[in-house]
Amino acid sequence: MKTLAVVSRKGGAGKTTVAVNLTMAARAMGVKAVLADADPQRSACDVLKGREESAGLIFETSASKLFALIEASRRAGADLLIIDTPATPEADVAEAVKVADLCLAVARPTYLDLAAAVRAVAIIQRLGKEGVIALNQCAPPRNGVEPPQVVKAFEALRFAGLPVAPVVLRSRVAYQTAFAQMRSVMELDGQQAACAEVRALFIEVWRRLRGEAPAPVRTANDDLGRAWAARPGLRLAPTA
Ligand SMILES: Nc1ncnc2c1ncn2[C@@H]1O[C@H](COP(=O)(O)OP(=O)(O)OP(=O)(O)O)[C@@H](O)[C@H]1O
Ligand SMILES: [Mg+2]
Repeated sequence: MKTLAVVSRKGGAGKTTVAVNLTMAARAMGVKAVLADADPQRSACDVLKGREESAGLIFETSASKLFALIEASRRAGADLLIIDTPATPEADVAEAVKVADLCLAVARPTYLDLAAAVRAVAIIQRLGKEGVIALNQCAPPRNGVEPPQVVKAFEALRFAGLPVAPVVLRSRVAYQTAFAQMRSVMELDGQQAACAEVRALFIEVWRRLRGEAPAPVRTANDDLGRAWAARPGLRLAPTA
């Protein structure tokens, strides 16, 4: 069983959105994923607790209980445990990072989120863990051109010290609509673009978790993904 910690030191960056949608994308693709809600706000529970299958899907927990939950999930036959973490306190974020095989640092393409992403990366590196950064709430391309804010975010993250996923999640009302219905975007009708980006992000993290090469990008984000994946130096050596 693999463990993925979804982290950000910034409130509202999209940790819960990413954690819930990746969990449901994994399950839709035949990977037995369960979600640990380690944030006392219990946002992931607010979304998934009311579902019929919630008993085997979402677990209310805390940083100190993560190790036991991982063991229990392993024994129950899960393939993947995804941890939704709080932005603070740092000690709780660090606990989740410690028990994870891979950390996914989520950031919106804004100055404050990117600064927080760098702080999350520092924790991941200090603890000697693997990580990848994913951009969330990116404005859509206009006439096929990536918004400057997104391009600049990729540029800034080249110096963050961890690879950046070549798949971004766009700002879409569908993510909010889905939560209001206790669902992921995978379960909404007519949201192919949202489904495609979530699925592509899941494939990216799942391959990294299994030690495989990152997936070729085949989504609406193709141009961005290809351009950035092909960029030499995108994967930088960890900073001291
Ligand atoms: N890609 C997106 N498109 C549209 N809305 C989004 C997207 N990602 C997140 N949101 C919305 O932004 C808000 C914050 O997202 P979310 O709760 O996932 O962030 P968080 O990092 O978990 O926050 P917290 O630190 O409070 O736990 C929510 O209302 C969510 O629906
Ligand atoms: Mg949250």
